[in-house]
Amino acid sequence: MTQSLSRRLFLHAAGAGAASVWIPRPGNVKGYTAAEMRQRAVNDRLEVGISKWDLDTPCLCVDLDRLERNLDRMQTTVTRNGIASRPHAKTHKCPAIARLQLATGSVGICTAKISEAEVMFEYGIEQVLMTTVNVTPRKIRRAMLLRKRCDGFTQAVDTAANARDLSAAAKEAGVVADIVVDVDPGGHRTGITAGGPALELAQLVDTMPGLRLRGLLCYDGGAQHVTGFDDRRRRALTRLEAAADTAAQMTRAGLDTGIFSGGGTGTYNIDHETPGLTDVQVGSYVFMDAQYRAIGGKDSPDVYNDFEMALTVLTTVLNAQYAGRATTDAGAKANTINRPWPIVVGETGITFTSGSDEFGTIRYEADASRVYAVGDKLELIVSHCDPVVNLYDQLYGVRGDVVEVVWPIAGRGKSI
Ligand SMILES: Cc1ncc(COP(=O)(O)O)c(C=O)c1O
Repeated sequence: MTQSLSRRLFLHAAGAGAASVWIPRPGNVKGYTAAEMRQRAVNDRLEVGISKWDLDTPCLCVDLDRLERNLDRMQTTVTRNGIASRPHAKTHKCPAIARLQLATGSVGICTAKISEAEVMFEYGIEQVLMTTVNVTPRKIRRAMLLRKRCDGFTQAVDTAANARDLSAAAKEAGVVADIVVDVDPGGHRTGITAGGPALELAQLVDTMPGLRLRGLLCYDGGAQHVTGFDDRRRRALTRLEAAADTAAQMTRAGLDTGIFSGGGTGTYNIDHETPGLTDVQVGSYVFMDAQYRAIGGKDSPDVYNDFEMALTVLTTVLNAQYAGRATTDAGAKANTINRPWPIVVGETGITFTSGSDEFGTIRYEADASRVYAVGDKLELIVSHCDPVVNLYDQLYGVRGDVVEVVWPIAGRGKSI
């Protein structure tokens, strides 16, 4: 059942104590000395309570009211549709947000990398599904070490050879590792072919002494950004059919299909139509971005407004002395160079590009809603949220214009 996010629950779930700033216990964060942690705590406290417009820029902000409504909308919808959410932490890389997702009804979180999974566990997240395969001996060993400490760690496999390697490593580590078979939706990026090959792999996993089969996953990344709800629905359901058949065959063969995970933000209200699917691995819905905005929703063909634009980059104008343009302090290192370019919040007739490393460029059209002066600040909706979040150490949680909380993006840079 969906829980609404009262302020008390919000602070409790995200890890806040009496003070409304969430600071990890020093022992939890490897690599920082106690002195560094104390300094960081002081810095964080100095920023809590100030206006976001007074923050040093470029910085990353999340509107907490919007974030909470996004969490609520997702959870309400999946619950109504008889499935669960298992949000992907690759989007936010932030344990505090993972905690909020779990507190509001998600059954676990996903990670893309073993280092992300390790960080989430270090910060107390215990239900972690790693959706990418680990194929090298070192990473397999790391996965088994994590499994040893974390009962809720499950990982993907898509070849028989990998299953054998995992089983051998599991035995060596003295654990039985939980496994899902990753089924290719047809794009051939990852996963094993649905039907016979996937069933055979599931049967092999089921017989391996070091492994325990938990089900399957099938994520169709290409379906998520298909423009237009009807086309997206057709593509997503067609691509999931073979995985659904595989799941049915696995069930008939007596195999565990307790997890049949798929889908993302673009198909969260579509995937439940696939028989047997248990949960969606939604990521971007917490923040949203310009790429998702453009795909169109069920009730609004032009703008995808199922979820609110919660994430922004704040930037300051550094130079305004040339006609038709201005320069800000947020370039590619603050926004990436993904497209479409970031959108300037609340303005019209102004384009923003972030092609140069350190500088963003504003260009005014004839009907620009305003002209900026040096020192002015503006807010940007980012192109694609995941890679932008990965550029920042911390996320400012803002209510109205006031900084309420400062969350470490502890998984930032964890790309291994
Ligand atoms: C395997 C997997 N699952 C889920 C997601 C989440 O997708 P979205 O951000 O579109 O919700 C991604 C994103 O790339 C992914 O790679």
